[in-house]
Amino acid sequence: MRIPFIAGNWKMFKTKKEALEFAESFKALYQGTDVKAAICAPYTQLECLVEAFQGTGIGVGAQNVHFAEEGAYTGEVSLAMLKEIGVDYCIIGHSERREYFGETDETVNLKLKKIFAESEITPILCVGENLEQREAGSEQDVVRRQLELDLAALSAEQAAGLVIAYEPIWAIGTGKTATPQQAGEMCAFIRETICQMYDEDTCDQVIIQYGGSVKPENATEIMNMEEIDGALVGGASLIPDKFMDIINF
Ligand code: 13P
Repeated sequence: MRIPFIAGNWKMFKTKKEALEFAESFKALYQGTDVKAAICAPYTQLECLVEAFQGTGIGVGAQNVHFAEEGAYTGEVSLAMLKEIGVDYCIIGHSERREYFGETDETVNLKLKKIFAESEITPILCVGENLEQREAGSEQDVVRRQLELDLAALSAEQAAGLVIAYEPIWAIGTGKTATPQQAGEMCAFIRETICQMYDEDTCDQVIIQYGGSVKPENATEIMNMEEIDGALVGGASLIPDKFMDIINF
C-alpha cells in the first residue's frame, strides 16, 4: 500500500524569515494528517526548516545535489553537506535544471547512484516531455528514454526507493494542467516501464507523483487517478493554506 505523498518545490522563493513564517503556520495546519508531506527549499533555508519541522512528520528536501564527493565546483553543494543537515529528500533532474543549468540524464544518473550508495535520502526524480514532444505524440518515448538513462545501473532495491515525479514541461508554472487522464496515463506508463526494467514488486513500491500547476481546485481529480500517488507542487506550495488544501485533497 503506497501512502500518498505531496511535496512542495519552493524553487528560488522565500528568504529564511519567510520560510520560518511558513513553517509556523503550516505545522499547525498539518497536525494529525496522515498524508505524507515535504518541503523542498533553497539550500540556505534547509537547516532552519529541519529544525522547525522536528517531530512533526513533515519532511524537508533539497532541490539538487552534486555527484562528486567534494572538489572545485564553485556554487555546488555535496551529498555530505545535505546529510549533515539531515534532509529527507532531494529533487533530481527537475526540468528547470535540465533546461537552464546543463543537467543531463548522465548527471542525473550519477546523482541518483551517489545518493543511494551513500545516504538514506530519498531522491525525487523528475521526468517529463516538452510541448513539442507532446504535440508530436512522442511523450512516452521521451519519458521511457529518460527512465532508462536516469536509472542505468540502479538495483531493483534502489529503484523501489524512488519517488518519480512526472512533470510535463508545458504544464509547469503555466496554469495549464495536464488533464487527470493525461497525467494518469503517463503515471501508469511510468509504472509499467519500471515493471519492465525491474519487476512487479519494484514498480509496486515506487511512489509516482504528478507535477505541473497542481492547485487546490484540481488536486482531488488528480489524486483520484489510480496510478498517481502524490504531487510535486510549485507555486501553490508557497502558501500554507493552499498547500494544506492540496494535502487534504
Ligand atoms: P507549478 O506547480 O508552479 O506549476 O510547478 C510545478 C513544478 O515544477 C514542481 O516541481
